[in-house]
Amino acid sequence: MKRSFRPIFSVVVLTVAAATLCFRIMVFGGSGAGEIQDSVYRNNVRAEQPAPVFNDTLLRFAAVDLAEDSVRQNVEQLVDGNFRGLTSGRRSSFLRSGRHRIDIRANSGTAVPAQLRSPEFHKFWLNFRRYLQTWWRNHRFQPDVMSDLLNVVKILKPSVNDSVLNSELKYKTCAVVGNSGILLKTNLGDAIDNHEFVIRLNNARTRGFERNVGSKTSLSFVNSNILHACARKETCYCHPYGEKVPIMMYMCQMIHFLDYVVCNSTHKVPLMITDPRFDILCARIVKYYSVSRFVKETGKALEAWAGSHDGSSFHYSSGMQAVMLALGICEKVSIFGFGKSDLAKHHYHTNQKAELHLHDYQAEYDLYRDLVERPEAIPFVSDKFKFPPVVIHR
Ligand SMILES: *[C@@H]1O[C@H](CO)[C@@H](O)[C@H](O)[C@H]1NC(C)=O
Ligand SMILES: *[C@@H]1O[C@H](CO)[C@@H](O)[C@H](O)[C@H]1NC(C)=O
Ligand SMILES: *[C@@H]1O[C@H](CO)[C@@H](O)[C@H](O)[C@H]1NC(C)=O
Repeated sequence: MKRSFRPIFSVVVLTVAAATLCFRIMVFGGSGAGEIQDSVYRNNVRAEQPAPVFNDTLLRFAAVDLAEDSVRQNVEQLVDGNFRGLTSGRRSSFLRSGRHRIDIRANSGTAVPAQLRSPEFHKFWLNFRRYLQTWWRNHRFQPDVMSDLLNVVKILKPSVNDSVLNSELKYKTCAVVGNSGILLKTNLGDAIDNHEFVIRLNNARTRGFERNVGSKTSLSFVNSNILHACARKETCYCHPYGEKVPIMMYMCQMIHFLDYVVCNSTHKVPLMITDPRFDILCARIVKYYSVSRFVKETGKALEAWAGSHDGSSFHYSSGMQAVMLALGICEKVSIFGFGKSDLAKHHYHTNQKAELHLHDYQAEYDLYRDLVERPEAIPFVSDKFKFPPVVIHR
């Protein structure tokens, strides 16, 4: 495995209904209840379409990460052991390990909390710095990163023989299950469970909803706020789907590497962090779609985009990155529970009303449509990567 930053492991787990910052699924526009739209597989459409022409101005604009400076500052500060004024504001980090605990308050005005220097925590501290530094070193754009996602499969199937071809390594069929209330209008549970590999998001529970959402989970994909909430529990329990289900998360706040190292020490199945190069690719793609849509709809200049999209807080949703992951590790991808409808709840499992503004679900839906109909129109992904066929079930 040539990758220098390898997703990592650990234990964790308990049911969490975490309120989060970086987050949650939800996407777009409803269709009638009960029907399944099996969109045409992209490969069939491909030949008829002229090669897409990307607008350079848009590409350049989408490639700028407005949060870059603040992330760099955060990393440098944390590596120096300074926990003051972290961007998370008033949030605190509270970690347990056996009978020991660390309670770091962002605004406490202390530098490295004393407990962190204690022998019990010293190894966590060293690991924390090491992982953070590695992550940051790899935090750069790399168009080929989609092909590297196969390394995730190698971690999930440790018994696989090295002589197996990459193409044989992939899962035959994958379902990415979003948390939209539209799932309650259909009984797709069995259809979901019939996939070889099922990815669920942000610990949305399945119990009581099996008919609608199924019950099989192969990978739990979350943002790091979820793990952060789990880390407050004695054993980092973070598994509504069972302890044997591996977890993958993207880091929304650098301080969450602390939660990671503490929880990892008790995790029995892989606890992985997304490759930062993969995060950057996802961020650029979603920003591209968001900006294109913004310019088309408002007729305003590109520069006005940040003001109406939370600028440096703008982020892709967990669902978007889970779909991108599936594209890299599966031969066929089915998307369920993405999309909203005036007739449906926001989430199937909560009564949350408000949508978060730091995501642009409409833009993400434009991306999914391109995945189905003309994946060659998706910017930033290396030509070497072959997108698998995608079907959206609604
Ligand atoms: C996480 O756990 C795995 C498996 O126990 C171990 O190999 C890895 O080094 C751990 N990572 C950290 C950061 O402690
Ligand atoms: C690219 O997009 C920008 C912003 O929408 C627009 O001003 C410019 O005319 C476009 N360039 C081309 C060649 O279409
Ligand atoms: C892997 O598979 C090849 C071909 O099937 C076989 O020759 C080889 O012994 C296997 N290696 C291991 C470690 O199982």
